[in-house]
Amino acid sequence: MTKYKVYHFDEKIERKGTASVKWDEVDRLYHAEGLLPMWVADMDFRVPDEVTDALKGRVDHGIYGYSARSESYLSAVQKWMRERHSWEIDKDWLCHSPGVVTALNLIVDGFTKPGDKVLIQPPVYPPFRKSVHNQGRELVTSALVYDNGKYTMNFTDLEQKMSDPSVKMMILCSPHNPVGRVWTKDELSRVAELSHKHHVLVISDEIHGDLVFNGKEHLPFANLSEEAANHSIICTAPSKTFNLAGLQISNIIIPNPSLRRIYLSQLQRFSLNEPNALGAAAAEAAYREGGDWLSQCLDYIKVNADYVADFLRNSIPELTMVPLEGTYLGWIDCRKLCLDKLQLQNLMLKKAKIAFNQGYTFGNEGEGFVRINLACPHSLIEQAMRQLHRAIQSLKN
Ligand SMILES: Cc1ncc(COP(=O)(O)O)c(C=O)c1O
Repeated sequence: MTKYKVYHFDEKIERKGTASVKWDEVDRLYHAEGLLPMWVADMDFRVPDEVTDALKGRVDHGIYGYSARSESYLSAVQKWMRERHSWEIDKDWLCHSPGVVTALNLIVDGFTKPGDKVLIQPPVYPPFRKSVHNQGRELVTSALVYDNGKYTMNFTDLEQKMSDPSVKMMILCSPHNPVGRVWTKDELSRVAELSHKHHVLVISDEIHGDLVFNGKEHLPFANLSEEAANHSIICTAPSKTFNLAGLQISNIIIPNPSLRRIYLSQLQRFSLNEPNALGAAAAEAAYREGGDWLSQCLDYIKVNADYVADFLRNSIPELTMVPLEGTYLGWIDCRKLCLDKLQLQNLMLKKAKIAFNQGYTFGNEGEGFVRINLACPHSLIEQAMRQLHRAIQSLKN
């Protein structure tokens, strides 16, 4: 009988003094003091024991020369995709990147030329926009629609934008950060159909694909159909799933060999084709043995998400959390407070003393919202809600 290990996500682990961006840089970046960091997508949980053991084993060896991705690393990723997402991939399709944002920049640079346009769906993860601007390409937006407490894609607008022959690429966020949607088969199939019809290459950022709730299922875009596989690039990583961002390893999955050749030549060009030795060891252990940890972690995050939604409903009815289907990032609608973006930011930083990601940083469409990171011990979530409550009360006095 295999032993079932119980993880204690309630444990508050001191992170200050570990050069943590989330904890050590927060006051400097937000120009305030004593902030509770509920921002950046970084969990405050210790990784699965197997990951720590794998790292210790690698460290004990004591030699850290140039590293390759081993057969066993590639088969661990392959197995994860098969078992977790019913997606059968060839090891050949797996390409390295230190990070998904690095990959997005390499992809925009390598697959488009000056004058081409790249489409994104705001409100969305800010580096999407930056990866387009960084390469001097033109940005086209097709905003998500928020109606009746739910975000959806505007397919009429999407088709209109895609029918511009200069639109060569779409960066899809699946699941979507920050609105928490896990796109359905129908929605993704419509994106696939339109992108195929209008010859738009789809870059599907699926970094949050392992983080889904409420019986929702994440569907890898390239697994929808042969056509979708042929004109897409899928960005995945263990970095959100197991909080390994500081170890810098991700997997860019490219079924189409012609597209893969271009991506690999970009990696060569910038000398980014070798993984960090510790990152590879950690990622392999996480994919092989982290499944139980992840299930327990998701249950824990779900309790935090429900707590925030209930707390707001009962104690701060001016604020509402958009239902969370995926990611560990709650998207809170604060528009009933009728504050402009800087007033809302000041309220959160100066009165509540909380660093949320401000909605406007995800595009104008995010104005009036804040994003909360739910992947932390429950006591911190309670503390954040207490501080938020007090701040909102102060507005009324
Ligand atoms: C949608 C999305 N893509 C990419 C990243 C970051 O990826 P990386 O750290 O691998 O560059 C994040 C981090 O929050 C994210 O939300």
